Amino acid sequence: MRVGIIGQGYVGLTIAVGAASAGHEVLGFDLNEDLVAKLNAGKSHIEGITDEDLAGFIHLKKYQAYSSPESLNGCEVIVIAVPTPLDGERNPDLSYVHTAAELINKQVKTSALIINESTSYPGTLRKEIASRINSVEHLFASSPERVDPGNSQWGTKNTPRLIGGLTPAAVAKAKEFYGSFCDSIVEVSSPEVAEAAKIFENTFRQVNIALVNEFAQISDALGISSREVIEAAATKPYGFMPFSPGPGVGGHCIPVDPSYLAHVANEVGVPATFIKRANEVNLAMPAYVVKRVVSGAGGSIAGKSVIVVGVSYKANVADTRETPAAAVIDLLRAQGAIVVWHDDLVGSWRGESSAPLAAHDIAVVVTKHDGVSDAIIKASKYVFDCTGTIAGADGI
Ligand SMILES: NC(=O)c1ccc[n+]([C@@H]2O[C@H](COP(=O)([O-])OP(=O)(O)OC[C@H]3O[C@@H](n4cnc5c(N)ncnc54)[C@H](O)[C@@H]3O)[C@@H](O)[C@H]2O)c1
Repeated sequence: MRVGIIGQGYVGLTIAVGAASAGHEVLGFDLNEDLVAKLNAGKSHIEGITDEDLAGFIHLKKYQAYSSPESLNGCEVIVIAVPTPLDGERNPDLSYVHTAAELINKQVKTSALIINESTSYPGTLRKEIASRINSVEHLFASSPERVDPGNSQWGTKNTPRLIGGLTPAAVAKAKEFYGSFCDSIVEVSSPEVAEAAKIFENTFRQVNIALVNEFAQISDALGISSREVIEAAATKPYGFMPFSPGPGVGGHCIPVDPSYLAHVANEVGVPATFIKRANEVNLAMPAYVVKRVVSGAGGSIAGKSVIVVGVSYKANVADTRETPAAAVIDLLRAQGAIVVWHDDLVGSWRGESSAPLAAHDIAVVVTKHDGVSDAIIKASKYVFDCTGTIAGADGI
């Protein structure tokens, strides 16, 4: 199949490579011209896709990136994989999805299966996408992406794929497409079910992470280790699932998607109280971390040199979107500390560069990538570890 993918970020490029590996001819469309130039030069910008893979598909003429939307015309399948962030008031911002739909409406003159993989609330495919595309008759399906960047066990191929379509023909075509590179397809009765499943999955994580973060604070006040308690509880073979405490939540999914569910809940008159409370708990974690650092370091950090280790939102990825490290650093500075950060994967961020990993008065470990030396971290006078991986260190 000739497949057009709108958006060549984490999700779009991952699907592009999945489809190319199944032998499809993939056209990766992105408005970012620099990104398109890099991709066409065989330079991948995401973990999990190597430059060699990308260059190989380009060489085989199975992949090419484009910055002009005309490339989408004539595609049998068009996948939308664009950002779905929150606006300034933490409400869904569907402007990227709308632009993508309007672009299809204007540019695509031949009938295609249009799939939305961008995460959004139930009703998005029907009301926000299909309703904007009426210049030609198309098929429409929703297949929310579940990719977990950096996860070497679960990827596009072996993670079951949800599919819901507006018509049986759309479902059949979507199954044919995803069946060519995914091991398992789960058909659901409507796009709304597929869309809701995705945001419920992430809301489940958000709420459980908030619960464990609250529990970590209770445990600390009780003088017991939350991690030891969680490990003990996890020996129960049924009815318990372990989550780990941390400095908050980051990335494009967990801090964002639940607010999409809260938004739609609000529209239908159901108060999404769990989601709101979970958000509050997770957003308050950086302040809790800094409070613990101040008391652990003797009551004041003014004038002390602090190194924050790991600023991406999770280990072994370079993604700093919504990372709690930002609030941790700002709050440490607000207490008068002299703060640098170390993260070789991220390199530069917020106009600053990664500092060498070295001994300081205080080390605060937010994220620990593979290969980062515990011994160097421990050379600081006081270490606060948010990852639970540094033996003997204070932390959560
Ligand atoms: N990153 C993840 O781990 C992940 C996992 C599952 C689902 N999702 C969801 O997938 C969607 C995409 O996320 P992402 O992480 O790939 O985002 P991203 O920011 O990495 O990439 C999006 C790309 O879309 C491009 N773009 C924006 N508007 C465009 C348009 N109109 N036409 C062409 N290109 C356009 C941007 O330039 C960018 O390169 C979001 O809804 C997200 O919530 C993300």
